Amino acid sequence: PKPRPGKLRTTFRWIWRLTYLSVLGTLGYTVYVIYDDRHPGEQFVPDPSKKTLVILGTGWGSVALLKNLDTENYNVVVVSPRNYFLFTPLLPSCTTGLIEHRSIMEPVRAILRHKKGAANYYEAEATNVDTERKVITVVDNSEVRGATNTTEIPYDMLVVGVGAENATFGIPGVREHSCFLKEIGDAQRIRKKIMDCVETAALRGQSEEEMNRLMHMVVVGGGPTGVEFAGELQDFFEEDIKKLVPGISPRFKVTLIEALPNVLPSFSKQLIDYTENTLREEKIDIMTKTMVKNVTNNTVEAEISKPDGTKERVEIPYGLLVWATGNAVRPIVKDMMARIPAQKDSRRGLAVNEYLVVQGARDVWAIGDCAVAGYAPTAQVASQEGSFLARLFNNMAKTESLESRIHDLSSKMNLKAGNSADDAHEIELLEKQLRRIKDVKPFRYSHQGSLAYIGSEKAVADVSWWNGNLATGGSMTYLFWRSAYLSMCFSSRNRVLVILDWLKSKAFGRDISRE
Ligand code: FAD
Ligand code: NAI
Repeated sequence: PKPRPGKLRTTFRWIWRLTYLSVLGTLGYTVYVIYDDRHPGEQFVPDPSKKTLVILGTGWGSVALLKNLDTENYNVVVVSPRNYFLFTPLLPSCTTGLIEHRSIMEPVRAILRHKKGAANYYEAEATNVDTERKVITVVDNSEVRGATNTTEIPYDMLVVGVGAENATFGIPGVREHSCFLKEIGDAQRIRKKIMDCVETAALRGQSEEEMNRLMHMVVVGGGPTGVEFAGELQDFFEEDIKKLVPGISPRFKVTLIEALPNVLPSFSKQLIDYTENTLREEKIDIMTKTMVKNVTNNTVEAEISKPDGTKERVEIPYGLLVWATGNAVRPIVKDMMARIPAQKDSRRGLAVNEYLVVQGARDVWAIGDCAVAGYAPTAQVASQEGSFLARLFNNMAKTESLESRIHDLSSKMNLKAGNSADDAHEIELLEKQLRRIKDVKPFRYSHQGSLAYIGSEKAVADVSWWNGNLATGGSMTYLFWRSAYLSMCFSSRNRVLVILDWLKSKAFGRDISRE
């Protein structure tokens, strides 16, 4: 008789079969996803019997709404000057070329073409919202203009998700001389300027003083944007610039300026200390309690608050200046706040109620950085608000269709008595369903935690853990940071591109060519 295979061999055989099946399954699924992505269904045309839902913006809030909205119920119109969604958490990595900018962009048309309903997109900026006439005015400010570049779009329902602009607090010279870090264009500008400073500093005959100035990279604002950028910049220098342009390397210096007593003020004390120590180990100069007051084309003028209460004015020469001091209200939002009387006390954006309805306006909702709902201006908040509105609108549409069905059945019952028992039963079921759907709870933000990259393959995380909070920092946290952001990327395409960029930079270094 044939000997029976040992237990270990059988186990290995099963493991092999299961691995084989899961690889096959993953491959099959990947092929299906790619096929589905490349073959969108039919293009739907707007249905005049449905309401027009206009969404302003293609950022975190608006895209989360679009992703979860059942577009069969509405004629959706998206208006934004940016025809793509931008995955902002990885934007600092684009400034050094660790990640290529297109890897974190997702075209909004690709998102809309997969929706089952009429969904249109216009590349334009909303310049006016007339809440009385329920009409918005939009302007195409792109480089290519047609005969028409401004038009009006009527709405039944309007969602404002236009985000925020960069705060400068009116400090002279900031807009003219510094780079912001909010959009893809900003990251490209910074990437180009870093290399321009390096190459100009390396030019034969450059004076010592000028070399030192050009190699001084100043970051204003010690919030998460400033800290992450400073970390990425120092990595770029250590891993690539130093090796390729060794002549200027002793002069390279990153300075982070913060007005408050410490950086990352929204993180826990333990993580603030860890971050400051790590940044100092990386040789990043941290200047806290230092408020920038004026900016010229090659110097920053700042005021340092000393421990004895006195103030000292300093002048800091720079080659590159990155300004990351948080958010300010966009003009369109300011304009709406000025026109709606119920918004007169609001300062930092459109005041909304617990269902994200703009106070004092009919059929207008606001989400994300342009809305004041009592939460921090983060992607997490914006995206949860967008998903909440999608659920609310899906429910509203279901409610309307159930109410109209109940109305039809009731009128039928009044006309003929034959089917009345069946109809009465259906009405009862529909009313039950209606009560359940109508019971929508108000928006509640669920904080999943805060993460920030701090350079030299280290990150800090303040995450919710069971019923408490877990504060951690270091290399393992960095792996968690990478996997968390990878999983949050918009599409599989983005995920694959980001992984390839990371591998490419590890193997060949960042590309230092100046485009
Ligand atoms: P946005 O995402 O800014 O989108 C606004 C949209 O409105 C854009 O499409 C814009 O083009 C459009 N728009 C502007 N004006 C008009 C107009 N007049 N008419 C029509 N459309 C208009 N948050 C986190 O939680 N975690 C992070 O790790 C994180 N990292 C970040 C890194 C950086 C570098 C930056 C800058 C921010 C980061 N944030 C992070 C914050 C986060 O990106 C924002 O809170 C989030 O983008 C807000 O989403 P939003 O939809 O309100 O606005
Ligand atoms: P921020 O508002 O968080 O920080 C700006 C910092 O600039 C403040 O600490 C402020 O004191 C300082 N500042 C202001 N004026 C100054 C001056 N004149 N001189 C010196 N310092 C000055 O802004 P940031 O970092 O752009 O973030 C904006 C929002 O996006 C925040 O809500 C943040 O939480 C979120 N974000 C989150 C990230 C993450 O979770 N990893 C990454 C980036 C942004």
